[in-house]
Amino acid sequence: MAGAAKALIFLGPPGAGKGTQAKRIAKELGVPHLSTGDMLREAVANGTALGKQAKPIMDRGDLVPDSIVLGMVEERLQRPDCGNGFIFDGFPRTLPQAEELDRILVRRGFGNPLVIEFQVAEDTLIKRVSGRWSCPVGGETYNVYERAPKVPGICDVDGGKLVQRNDDRPEIVKERFAAYARQTMPLSQYYRKRGVLKAIDGGLGVDDVTRTLNGILNVAGA
Ligand code: AP5
Ligand code: MG
Repeated sequence: MAGAAKALIFLGPPGAGKGTQAKRIAKELGVPHLSTGDMLREAVANGTALGKQAKPIMDRGDLVPDSIVLGMVEERLQRPDCGNGFIFDGFPRTLPQAEELDRILVRRGFGNPLVIEFQVAEDTLIKRVSGRWSCPVGGETYNVYERAPKVPGICDVDGGKLVQRNDDRPEIVKERFAAYARQTMPLSQYYRKRGVLKAIDGGLGVDDVTRTLNGILNVAGA
């Protein structure tokens, strides 16, 4: 990372492309990609106590309690790979999470985060989420409509058998959008007021969004 260590936050509704872009940018910057959704899904898959608590909540499209998510994030940030910055994908998602993150960042010697808000039309979001297939081995994400794997159902990168997420069923997606509108959208104003939010057009193609992000990060010196 060329400039000062940065805390980046990718904010946006389900299907906005946060995970797709966070994977790319994290690799380019050499910083970890911290997806609270991925962490929770891993806990569910491993059958941990935390996973057992989170599973029914995630399956109905609600947000997991702040205390659980914040505990997980605090623990993750203590690992040495986070010293040079990190990209949060899907965190924070409530005002109490954002306020606590501010305190954590001060404690850990980071300045203001840089928040990127992905703006995407709802019909595009629905199409993206319903067409998403992911690889459980390496986490690569595909889309049957726009970014199909070369062989249907098989990961191009490591040959893993692609799966769909439990919470990508249409009735659950509706609940996730509602949770976003109710609990996460206020964060846009919270960060905008502090002058640390940049909104981008997340409806462009994957490479165009990456180019937009690189432009912003170059200016920010990240
Ligand atoms: P989480 O895993 O964070 O899901 P989400 O926010 O709903 O977002 P998604 O992962 O669905 O979308 P994305 O923006 O990452 O899009 P992607 O890049 O995959 O959270 C899941 C659940 O965990 C929550 O409901 C909650 O229960 C719990 N949780 C997680 N964090 C929490 C927190 N902080 N607090 C409380 N609870 C929490 O792209 C989508 C698809 O589109 C893919 O197929 C991709 O290939 C395709 N695509 C991406 N970009 C483009 C593009 N530019 N053009 C065309 N296709 C594209
Ligand atoms: Mg994601």
